[in-house]
Amino acid sequence: MTKVDVLLGLQWGDEGKGKVVDVLAPHYDAVARFQGGPNAGHTLVVDGKKCVLRSIPSGILRQGQMNIVGSGVVIDAVLLMEEVQQLERDGINVTSRLKIARKAHLILPTHRLLDAAGERLKGSQRIGTTGKGIGPAYTDKVRRTGLRVGDVEGDFLARYERARDGHMRLLQALGERPDLSQLEQPWLEAIDFMRRFELVDCENYVNGLLRGGKRLLAEGAQGSMLDVDYGSYPFVTSSTTVCAGACTGLGVAPSNIGEVYGIFKAYCTRVGAGPFPTELHDEVGSEMRRLGHEYGAVTGRERRCGWIDLVALRYAIQLSGVTKLIMMKSDVLDAMPTIKVCDAYRLPGGGTTSQMPYSIDNVTPIYTEVPGWLTDLTHATSEQDLPEAFVSYVSLLEERLDVPIAIVSVGPDREQTIVRKNRG
Ligand code: IMP
Repeated sequence: MTKVDVLLGLQWGDEGKGKVVDVLAPHYDAVARFQGGPNAGHTLVVDGKKCVLRSIPSGILRQGQMNIVGSGVVIDAVLLMEEVQQLERDGINVTSRLKIARKAHLILPTHRLLDAAGERLKGSQRIGTTGKGIGPAYTDKVRRTGLRVGDVEGDFLARYERARDGHMRLLQALGERPDLSQLEQPWLEAIDFMRRFELVDCENYVNGLLRGGKRLLAEGAQGSMLDVDYGSYPFVTSSTTVCAGACTGLGVAPSNIGEVYGIFKAYCTRVGAGPFPTELHDEVGSEMRRLGHEYGAVTGRERRCGWIDLVALRYAIQLSGVTKLIMMKSDVLDAMPTIKVCDAYRLPGGGTTSQMPYSIDNVTPIYTEVPGWLTDLTHATSEQDLPEAFVSYVSLLEERLDVPIAIVSVGPDREQTIVRKNRG
């Protein structure tokens, strides 16, 4: 029996998971998404061409791999259909290489309306969701009123109408005037489109693959600091983004988890509202945004940028038992004369901590400053090409995080990826 390797974002999402899955994919027979939904936007650049995947695992871009949308995912059928059609226009065969879990929940058109209404009601306390109906779909799942993919095999329309009518009553009670006229028909057509894929009992299918000696990579979405239990609650998403989510989202036992890859950027970003201790409101932050193209892949929103936060990274590593680290977007810091690393927080009530406190509202980062490398990393193709100051930065992070940094990425393309020797 083989084990599932897991790939997770360790910050607030957008760490570059899409690119890494694509780089790691040749080592695997199958890639699975286990949580989240089209709030994710995994950007890949292959042969200079940009591609954004939302619900489909990043393995789809490599021939020969099976891709699985797991039970812990929430699916918007319209967006899934659009994604499939775009990939097929690009010459990628999706239908025979994508399996969908029957137990995955469906995002209804009314979930999107409820997401928007919920944000409006929260006013200044709004989360800044992606507006894709993620929270309401997961709410229905735990309220035990959700519709699942497997329901399309039964008396679907009656179930859908019951759920829709419940949502409409709720929206009206919230003072909304919901209009489904443009949304419902395309959604029902997209539900029909979904029937072309093989629907599977994901837990049986995945464990069958493992028993057959197949190698499976579980691709996380969002980041550990957006986890519904352990992230910066309530400014989080509604799913389990840490490693445990791969177990529940795919139906895999904890003892069948193998390598846990943790991805982080050489700096840090966050999109939407919520605390962000190392955020920069100055020129340096703007420069990170400009050079790192830090705009949401799904919403186009500006991402907030700041220095790397080792308190949050150590916390995320602990939560998921990360065995290997992957550092992304190193090249964005190429022109910075000095780089700051947050190693502890000063607490608002006095004192300091190097461990994640209950709340990170109003903590002040305590920084170590290191010299920048002032070298263009984008042409580096091996470890020998990396400047000394950059290697020192990587070593400092490894020492403080206590996990080897196995891969560093120096640009968006597949080729701009350096696998470090003696790092497992
Ligand atoms: P939701 O997942 O759309 O409900 O949004 C909840 C919070 O998670 C918001 O702050 C979003 O900006 C953030 N979020 C959701 N998905 C992503 C992602 O893929 N990358 C970064 N942030 C995300």
